[in-house]
Amino acid sequence: MSSLASEDMVRFGSPLLSEPGARVSSTIVLPIHTDEHVVGVRKLVREQALALKLSLVDQTKLVTAASELARNTIKYGGGGMVQAQMLDSGLRQGVRLVFADDGPGIADIDQALRDGFTSGGGMGLGLGGAKRLVDEFAIDSRSGEGTAVAIVKWKK
Ligand SMILES: Nc1ncnc2c1ncn2[C@@H]1O[C@H](COP(=O)(O)OP(=O)(O)OP(=O)(O)O)[C@@H](O)[C@H]1O
Ligand SMILES: [Mg+2]
Repeated sequence: MSSLASEDMVRFGSPLLSEPGARVSSTIVLPIHTDEHVVGVRKLVREQALALKLSLVDQTKLVTAASELARNTIKYGGGGMVQAQMLDSGLRQGVRLVFADDGPGIADIDQALRDGFTSGGGMGLGLGGAKRLVDEFAIDSRSGEGTAVAIVKWKK
């Protein structure tokens, strides 16, 4: 595990939460370098969504967001990892996913989030789409050092 990527995960450990008192009840880290890894991430996230008893629509939203971020991790980040956590605030339960890589970083985050912006011949819908599909979304990126994208979905 590279140092920047693991630092990012630690840094994202609390600031992203609308419920800062939430307890982390499990943590799983998976590598993201190949298409098979993306399949594995989708499977894990689907299982977590099921464990949370998310509606079918919300399961699909979470898996879709995870899939887009995992693909970006490979395509633009040169590979990396995801940290997947189950959260319990006492009032509600959720899933937090942090995708981290040691790639070139995102120079202009607002631009990257804009629908239709792509630097790689894609549709430019992945990041903005992922943001709309979850409850909490944050990007931390440093030029030349890497990118971490954190998302949370709560059980309504
Ligand atoms: N992990 C990353 N590292 C560096 N740049 C990134 C990363 N993720 C996204 N980007 C930048 O943000 C842009 C927008 O990402 P987004 O996922 O929205 O679109 P895309 O991947 O280009 O196309 P699509 O996801 O629709 O196929 C990318 O083209 C890339 O320039
Ligand atoms: Mg994308």
